[in-house]
Amino acid sequence: MDQVESAAPNAFLRDVRAISARMHGALLDEESEGADPALVLLQSALTAEILCVWRYTMMSVSLAGLKQPRIGAEFQEQANDERRHMVAIAQRIRELGGTPDFSPHGLETRFGEFGTRADLAGLVEQNLAAEREVIGLYRRMIDHFEPHDPVTALMLTNILEEESEHATDMQDLLSIETGGHG
Ligand SMILES: [Fe+2]
Ligand SMILES: [Fe+2]
Repeated sequence: MDQVESAAPNAFLRDVRAISARMHGALLDEESEGADPALVLLQSALTAEILCVWRYTMMSVSLAGLKQPRIGAEFQEQANDERRHMVAIAQRIRELGGTPDFSPHGLETRFGEFGTRADLAGLVEQNLAAEREVIGLYRRMIDHFEPHDPVTALMLTNILEEESEHATDMQDLLSIETGGHG
């Protein structure tokens, strides 16, 4: 846990944490500003998923991924999961009468940063920290939706299950990359 909490907070991780913090604000009804809180929450999740699709797709074709095809394939599989999450959430936003925003403002993450970093363990540490942030985000959202919107709550529960698997996968990869501990 300490190792992950100390993961270098690059732009991706800062973005994920900022989304989570904004979502928490929306849950406390501080930042909805008249908008439907359900749509504000789902848009937060959509933005997080868009970032995860970018992140894992880039990592699947990164130098580390290409040098170790098994790792590249693992990231591709995760990117596919995140894409399914992204689509499910966007469809739910539509069903609830909203418009999913696929170009969210204020993100720091840029595509260019992924090809240059050779330290795979560091990247995986950031992924693990991000997955844990997203898991917390979905848990809080499920608590919010469960009493009045079981359809959305069920969708989020299914996504949460896969995010937990991602965290486990990242943890396993991290133990391999850092020499078999944990
Ligand atoms: Fe996801
Ligand atoms: Fe994930």
